[in-house]
Parts: sequence; C-alpha cells; structure tokens
Amino acid sequence: MSKKEEIYNKDYQSRMNRYYDEFKWLYMELYQDQYAAFHDLCDDLHAYFQARETDLKERDCERSADPQWYRGNDMLGMMLYVDAFAKDLNGVREKIPYFKSCGVNYIHLMPLLDSPEEKNDGGYAVSDFCRVKPELGTMEDLKRLAEECHEQDISLCLDFVMNHTSEEHEWARRAKAGEREYQNRYFFYDNYDIPSQFERTVPQVFPTTAPGNFTWNPDTGKVVMTTFYPYQWDLNYGNPTVFREMVGNMLYLVNQGIDIIRLDAVPYIWKQPGTNCRNLPQVHNIVRMMRIICEVVCPGVLLLGEVVMEPDKVAPYFGTVEKPECHMLYNVTTMASLWHTVATKDARLLRRQMDIMHALPKEYVFQNYLRCHDDIGWGLDYAFLRSFGMEEVSHKKFLNDYFTGKYEGSFARGELYNASEELGDARLCGTTASLCGVEMAVDENKDERAAAVGENTGNMTGAVINGTDGDVSALVFDGRHDTMPHPISGIAADDALNQAIRYDLTLHAFMLAQSGIPVIYSGDEIGETNDYSYHDEPKKRDDSRYLHRGAFRWDLEEARHREGSVQQRIFDGLRQMEQIRSSHYVFRADADVWTVDTWDDSVLGIIRSGAGQKLVTLYNFSDQDRIAWINENDGMYTDLLSGSRMEAKGVQMPAFGCRWLLRDCDVCEAGR
Ligand code: GLC
Repeated sequence: MSKKEEIYNKDYQSRMNRYYDEFKWLYMELYQDQYAAFHDLCDDLHAYFQARETDLKERDCERSADPQWYRGNDMLGMMLYVDAFAKDLNGVREKIPYFKSCGVNYIHLMPLLDSPEEKNDGGYAVSDFCRVKPELGTMEDLKRLAEECHEQDISLCLDFVMNHTSEEHEWARRAKAGEREYQNRYFFYDNYDIPSQFERTVPQVFPTTAPGNFTWNPDTGKVVMTTFYPYQWDLNYGNPTVFREMVGNMLYLVNQGIDIIRLDAVPYIWKQPGTNCRNLPQVHNIVRMMRIICEVVCPGVLLLGEVVMEPDKVAPYFGTVEKPECHMLYNVTTMASLWHTVATKDARLLRRQMDIMHALPKEYVFQNYLRCHDDIGWGLDYAFLRSFGMEEVSHKKFLNDYFTGKYEGSFARGELYNASEELGDARLCGTTASLCGVEMAVDENKDERAAAVGENTGNMTGAVINGTDGDVSALVFDGRHDTMPHPISGIAADDALNQAIRYDLTLHAFMLAQSGIPVIYSGDEIGETNDYSYHDEPKKRDDSRYLHRGAFRWDLEEARHREGSVQQRIFDGLRQMEQIRSSHYVFRADADVWTVDTWDDSVLGIIRSGAGQKLVTLYNFSDQDRIAWINENDGMYTDLLSGSRMEAKGVQMPAFGCRWLLRDCDVCEAGR
C-alpha cells in the first residue's frame, strides 16, 4: 500500500470513529435491534471507500481541507438533459469548452440512468441504478466525463432518485413475480383498506396526470403505493435492506466521480398512515445518516436536497450547524415569489421572502434559479398575501392566466401543468425567455418585419413555435431600428423586445446577486423560447414540462456570435454579470445582506456588504420607468452594469431594469 493510501485509510478510520456513535444511534432509531444489518452496512461503507479511486480520495482530502470550497462567489451551475444538449455523454464531454465559455463550473446532468423507453418520467423512473441509459452511453463514458470535468475544475451533479424505482427495476419485476422479499421492498397491500386510509391524509403530486397514490397491480392482484406516476413504485425505507441497497447505489455513483448528489423528492421517503407522508421525522433521520455516510466515505461529495415544499419545511433539511443534513437546497420559495412579482409588478412579497432568507444562518447554501426542468408551483406565503386581499385559489388563477398570456396586457407565454378544476389548482411551464416576453416580442417583430417587406409570416412563426424549423433569422432579429425597414408601429414591437431582453437579464441579475449558487437552466443563456414540438410526440404530449425541455438550439448558439442578436445580448449580458459576481467579494455568502425601502412597491432594493465593499442592488418590476427613493448617504457609487457613476439617492430605474451600485472606495477596486 502506498504512503498516500495509508494516510487515506487512517483518515477514513478517524472519520468513522468520529461519527460512529451517532450513526449507530440514528440507525437503531429506525431499525431497532438490527445489529447485524448495521454492521453489514458499515462493512459496505468500507468496501466502497476501498473501491474509491485515489484521485477521488485526493479530491476529498483537498475539499475537506477547504470546507468553504462551494461557498464562494465563483460557483456557477447549469442544468441540462444530456440527449437534448449533446445527444449523449461523449457529446457533453466534447462541449466542455462551451461550459467554459459560459463560465460554468458545476453541471447538473438530468437523470441518465437506465429507465424504460416509455413510462420513464423524464428519467425519474430508474430501472437500474448502476447502468447508464444505453442511448446516452455507458458508465465508463460517465466516468470519463467526470474525469475531464475535474481536470477543468467543473463539478458534476447527478440525480439520485431515491423515493421510488421504475416498475421495470429488477426488484419490481421480482415483486411482480410474487417474491415476498421483493414485495417487502415496496408498499404492497392485499386490498384497499390501508391504501384508503392513506388516501384520506396524503395529497396528490400529479392530480391530473396521475391521480391517487396507489396502483392496482394485476400481476400480483395487490395494490402498490405509487405517489408519483403509477409506474414509479415507492420504496419502503422501513426495510433496512432497502436503505442498505440504496446507500450502495449512491456510493457506486459517487465512485464514478459524481461530486454532487441531488436527493430527488427526498421529503417523500417515509410513509406512515394518518400523516401526509411528507417531511416526517424519519426522513430527517435518513438524510442525516446519508450525510454521515458521505462525510465518512467521500467527504468531498455534496448533497443537494430537492425539497419543493412550503417555506417552513425547507430549511430544516439543512439540519443544524452541529448535525447538518443537506449541504445545499433549492431556493424554491424565492423562485416562485419572483415569478409572482413579475405578474403582479408588486415586490412586497418578494421583499418579505428576502428578509426571511437574509435572517437564516449564512452557513445555509441555497441553489438559486429562475427555471428548472420542473413546473413552477405557486408555493407562496398566502397568509401574507391575504393581508392584501389576495386569496390562494383566485390568486393562482390570476398567476396562471398571466403566464399563459390570457390576462390582458400580459407578455408571457406559458402552459398550465396539472390543472385541476376540482382543487382550483394548476402549476406552470415555460422557459424564462418566453415567460418574460421575449417570445412574444420576437413574434411581434417578425410580424412587423414581414409586413414591412410584404412577406408571409407563416414560416417565420414556425421557426419560433416549432423550435426546430430552419428559419433562425426571426429569432436572431436584433430589434434595432437601423438594420431594417419598419413601419411606425414597429417601434412598439422593437421596444417590447428590448424590454423583454432587459427583463430577462434583470431576473438573472436578481438570481446572481443572491448568496448561494446560481444555476442556469440550459438554453436560458441564449434566451431559448418554448419548444412546442412535444405536442406532437405521443410519449410526451401529456406532460407540459416538455415545453421547456426541448433540444438545445445550437443554431441559436451560433447566432450569439452575431452582434445585436437576441442571443448575443442575453448571453453577453449574463456573462458580464457573472464576471462581476465572481470578481467581487461582496457577492460571497458571508456578506451581510438586507432589503431597503425604495418607497415604490414595484422596485426592490437589496444591499450587500462585506469585505469593505457595499453593493446596492435595485430591480424594477414595473413596465414604467421609476425612481428608487433610497437615500444611502455615503458617497458616490458606480453602477457595475452600465458603468455610470451616481449617488445612491433617488435612483432612476428603467422599466424592467436593474442596477448594481458599488460604493466607490479603494478596496472595491481590489475585486476578489
Ligand atoms: C422530482 C423531479 C420531477 C419528478 C419527480 C418524481 O420532483 O424533479 O421531475 O417528476 O421527482 O421522481
């Protein structure tokens, strides 16, 4: 054994010693008296550690020495579907230079493990945790991708779909074949007695596309629990074998070089009749054990919890400072509150949400985002909204009308998701660019342009609507008056496009200026609009989330090199802000952050202060120019976005615009 390996082994032992008592105690809480099973699990951990490659152990070691490694102001994520982005894993590897050009150093690859051809919920119905979906490549390809990413200082995140397996998973097949042992890995019932007890208290995740929480299984003549789709069978974590095997699957993946494990749908993993089967204390017990397991076996690996829950349920997944659970969580409430603000042009709820965020311990790392692969659920603080007379059901209807463009004056183009009349509920899909007006403005511009030159607009509209049609010119139209003849009315359309692009960038500016890790949804960096082609695909048409899961438009990526194109303006605007972010200390998570009164409900003001720097950020959610009536009486500021110098007093704010005002001082210039 090499000297290095000897040191790593010793480190492993000391980490295990440090956590052993707590680990055992947590385990026994769930699996009373299962001593042998506990020891088997510990043996597994050791075996996975032994199997971990030296390079990865070295990385663990470096990261343990710098536990702040993911908390800086230079982390920038991007999430993408392998096939939509570059066909397969090798394709993604070839695109590493593109990630570098975007400044991205953390890539979340959407589910890529083996899952059935149909009935796969976008890969969230895994049939083999140790095999890559053949059309995307092999485990070797994944490993190679991870290695090359690591060489380029890029971390890789992968989903760990732990709540359920596909009905095609080997365990499910054996359960269907009648093997008791495998049925016990799921929730099987001989009749509907217990399931109907559950149904009384358990809400539905997909009330329209997959109603109910149980599915009749004709092979066994039994009923099986299926919280999500009927083909996603819930795993029974009350069974220690399930826990052991799933931990093994997770460690197998991290040993391929995965840096960040996304714990998919984690609040759902423990079920108990009479409860809503969400966020039960046992879930926290399991997550804490998984954290300990990572700390012991692979301390360089992070856990990202997918907790899409009401605000007070989210932060507990960080655990406590002494007993942490997840390293990172999605900032879901801020995301939903932001889109609410876009529709209402009223930033009061968002301000309140930011005040809540700013009061949380700085150790908490949130993943900030505008859009992801899922719908936007309207999980807002309705108690607060009620004080302004906004009721949950009618307000959700307003938001959905607004973002589907039904509401008069709306510029948004989205589609509903899981609309249920009975519950008065629906969620929403669409890309950032389409939701903040780029799609509509581009279409209007095309119409204007066609009218000006006497063209038929049909083909050009197709370019946007199908998302795949060859005519890119419509999308890259730059919106400047000097490049084309335009009728008088064209001016309005031109302004609409400028405004929409500005708004797109303003929303990204808001995301980038928060503490935590900003994550771009692939395609947003070039302002991709909705892809309606899923309507024609039978396997996808019932799931409107495919509206924003279209193929990456490399043709539009080309267009970003064309000065003045929509893509260039969004891409370069984003790059500018990302570079500002990563080169100023004040964006680090340890800065103090607070909101400031602007005396205008449409304008949100947030101040960051740290390392001698002070940054006043202002966001105008109104379609009118406004003034932020702040009065920071401490000298001159420079707007990092426009370069203008000004006082932070009565600041002029363009419609849908933003400013990042840095107080002039020596240290500020020093940057990072
Ligand atoms: C998570 C995923 C979502 C999926 C669900 C079921 O919420 O983000 O896309 O449908 O889990 O696995």
